[in-house]
Amino acid sequence: MSAKFHYIHHACFTVEAGGKTFLFDPFLDGNPEGIQAKDIKADYIFVSHGHGDHLGSAYEIAKANDATIISTAELCYQAEAEGCKAHAMHLGGTCMFPFGKVRVAMAFHGSGIPGGHACGFVVDLYGTKIYFAGDTALYSDMQLLPKLDPFTYAILPIGGNFTMDPNDAAIAADFLKAKYVIPIHYNTWPVIAQDVNAYKAKVEETTSSKVIIVNPSETIELE
Ligand code: NI
Ligand code: MN
Repeated sequence: MSAKFHYIHHACFTVEAGGKTFLFDPFLDGNPEGIQAKDIKADYIFVSHGHGDHLGSAYEIAKANDATIISTAELCYQAEAEGCKAHAMHLGGTCMFPFGKVRVAMAFHGSGIPGGHACGFVVDLYGTKIYFAGDTALYSDMQLLPKLDPFTYAILPIGGNFTMDPNDAAIAADFLKAKYVIPIHYNTWPVIAQDVNAYKAKVEETTSSKVIIVNPSETIELE
């Protein structure tokens, strides 16, 4: 089944598939379309960690839409305390949802919440298979992910400073062996300014993956 990917900005995007809207890391401040929390419809909200540029407006959007937040346990317990519906998972955990399987992947990064962990997700959204790395350093166990659950798209941070930079994220692309890589989490602020075209050239020269550059506010069709 096909799906639509809309890149809001930074690490925030939606995937529409199977008549549902899946929202990822809903940080909206400064997005070029001026999208506000009240404008967003969502059925499920994936939150990689508690830093403000990822948790963003998750609680407000979840409550307004009766959407389910999917994240690590500590973050979900906080979400429930805020009055949200949440499904707590944790690193290495998998679960079958009505739309498909979710795996919580490791992310080497701060959690932004006491006692918590940052994470990524491998998701099957009605047949569209995506690895969303969240914020992470490069780590060699990324090589395991495509052996555990196949995915077509790897959505990777390339901004450096807080996460992998383009050189590290090119090695990640080699580890992940996705058909397509979508770079995110760059150029939001000067400290994570990067040349995404150079990243694309490097990945396509050194791996078998194709890099799809999606600009904030753009929508593409996913396989
Ligand atoms: Ni972070
Ligand atoms: Mn971040």
